[in-house]
Amino acid sequence: MGLLDKFAPLAEQYRRHEAAGTNPFTVAFDRVLSPTEAMIGDKRILLLGTNNYLGLTYDPSVIDSAIAATRSSGSGTTGSRIANGSYGGHRSLERALADFYGRKHGMVFSTGYQANLGIISTLAGKNDHLLLDADSHASIYDGARLGYAQVTRFRHNSPEDLANRLRRLKDEPGDKVIVVEGIYSMLGDKAPLREFAAVKREYGAYLVVDEAHSLGVLGETGRGLTE
Ligand SMILES: Cc1ncc(COP(=O)(O)O)c(C=O)c1O
Repeated sequence: MGLLDKFAPLAEQYRRHEAAGTNPFTVAFDRVLSPTEAMIGDKRILLLGTNNYLGLTYDPSVIDSAIAATRSSGSGTTGSRIANGSYGGHRSLERALADFYGRKHGMVFSTGYQANLGIISTLAGKNDHLLLDADSHASIYDGARLGYAQVTRFRHNSPEDLANRLRRLKDEPGDKVIVVEGIYSMLGDKAPLREFAAVKREYGAYLVVDEAHSLGVLGETGRGLTE
């Protein structure tokens, strides 16, 4: 058996998508017109699958700032912060985000995927426990795999099931870190956060909320479901 033979079922699936005209890798926009529209050849199409909820990619002040930043500082930092130090603009952005949330500190990652890898793999250490909603985004699962904590899944949006799992782990050493999403990427529903927070308090656990889809969308002032 060759190295690539294990991909045969996947290749078959790919061929089926090709045949049905549903292969996402063949979709390429010739021109993006706005946060919600693009052109493929002469055809104007709607972008229904993107998460550009706030339309910030076309916000004039964001565009102007991006142009000014690349003109003054180049198109990349050419090295990690840990090796080279931070750019002032990144520091200001983190300060502004921390102030927005009323927190002492903020940290910016390049993507949501990297944020989850960084946060989840470090917050829950070797002898700790991670409690993940069964329908968590792939980046949450990947973050858990990158770290050394023991992973327990609980039923989607079920504070009762979470409480049961925490009860079973009660005498286990280590911290318990719960991870939920403000709005679920795969299902579009909201976490019952008040109930999750009550369970967290009862068992002395910690709660991480991924607000990837709820920042600027939920809450009276756009601070997400936690607001
Ligand atoms: C809940 C959640 N977290 C993290 C991510 C990853 O974000 P990014 O696409 O910026 O890597 C996504 C992506 O949609 C997501 O839905």
